[in-house]
Amino acid sequence: MGMPSAEDFVARIRSVVGEHDGPIGLHEPEIGDIEQRYLKECLDSTFVSSVGAFINQFEARLAEFTGAKYAIAVSNGTVGLQVALVLAGVEPGDEVIVPTLSFIATANAVSHAGAVPHFIDSEELTMGMSPEALRASLASMRREGTALVNPATGRRIAAISPMHTLGHPVRIEEICAIATEYGIPVVEDAAESLGSFVRGQHTGTFGLLGVISFNGNKIVTTGGGGVILTNDDALGVRAKHLTTTAKLPHKWEFEHDEIAWNYRMPNLNAALGMAQLDRLPGFQVEKRELADAYKAAFEGFEGARFVEEPAGTTSNYWLCAVQLDTPSLEVRDSLMQACHDAGLLVRPMWNLLHTQRMYAGSPREELDTAIDLHASLICLPSTPRLGRK
Ligand SMILES: Cc1ncc(COP(=O)(O)O)c(C=O)c1O
Repeated sequence: MGMPSAEDFVARIRSVVGEHDGPIGLHEPEIGDIEQRYLKECLDSTFVSSVGAFINQFEARLAEFTGAKYAIAVSNGTVGLQVALVLAGVEPGDEVIVPTLSFIATANAVSHAGAVPHFIDSEELTMGMSPEALRASLASMRREGTALVNPATGRRIAAISPMHTLGHPVRIEEICAIATEYGIPVVEDAAESLGSFVRGQHTGTFGLLGVISFNGNKIVTTGGGGVILTNDDALGVRAKHLTTTAKLPHKWEFEHDEIAWNYRMPNLNAALGMAQLDRLPGFQVEKRELADAYKAAFEGFEGARFVEEPAGTTSNYWLCAVQLDTPSLEVRDSLMQACHDAGLLVRPMWNLLHTQRMYAGSPREELDTAIDLHASLICLPSTPRLGRK
């Protein structure tokens, strides 16, 4: 197998993104006239904070787009995951199974819920949690009454949190089926996958709860923001209650019935989100065109290939990526250096979570595939307009 040529690598990316003034970022927000208009309307209304027309419309529109019965907008994806885990029954001292190949928030949300992440391997096909590794891990646990307990730590396995990597759907149906067999709830980290579907069903709606992020680098941004999705009536109502200080409705009394959070997405951010949702169909088309262009550009490239959506799924192609045939941090970094020298701000995957200092002592399974994926993936500039024809 030949070594990938850095010069050729840069040239192929350049052939897709074209020449620009200045460096080309990984994923830049697209803010235009509609965003300006809705934001001005919101400012003029003076409803810039936790109540207003935009936030209600934004939630209704997200429920409609994803098919979730409830969509509760929150201030970011990380807090959304924290609340979703608590709603799923995660308690302090529990363990939650998460992929080691993920952004830090997947594990931090578990910690913020008072629990400990238990790291599991990914698979080549989806870059997400391996159903086979999950099954093997759960089979090694001990039953104690209704609880499933990790014999090595004595902690209860309280939830499973798979993530849809770079927007490509994980094998979520298999993961949910295994979780159901063991009676463990699934909280989907769908932070990256707004607009990604498995057989027509939106990611984030397979588990008991799911969470999408609207960070500035996502396909749709609200500046900062997130949404909790669920089809469960009780959890949907409780998600809203817990993220809005658990205040009991009353014209003037400030009575709260439990210690809760002020995690509501402000109306101002939702105004930006409404404009972005207007443009989402366009972004989806452009992202697919960009993915097609990268795929064609990397055909015949020696030593690496374009990463395609898993068969049977529709990815939003949030981040386009290429994968080295032979995992090598050295080769990966030399290709990235050449790109950065040429003003193409490509990025590696996140450092694996089990290698982050806070999580070095956390329980884990064999993580060989995730280690290889980390050493072989390079994320390419993926701003939707780069795919505009
Ligand atoms: C996989 C994953 N999980 C969680 C998050 C957290 O979302 P936020 O930045 O909105 O807190 C992000 C992205 O930011 C993410 O990529």
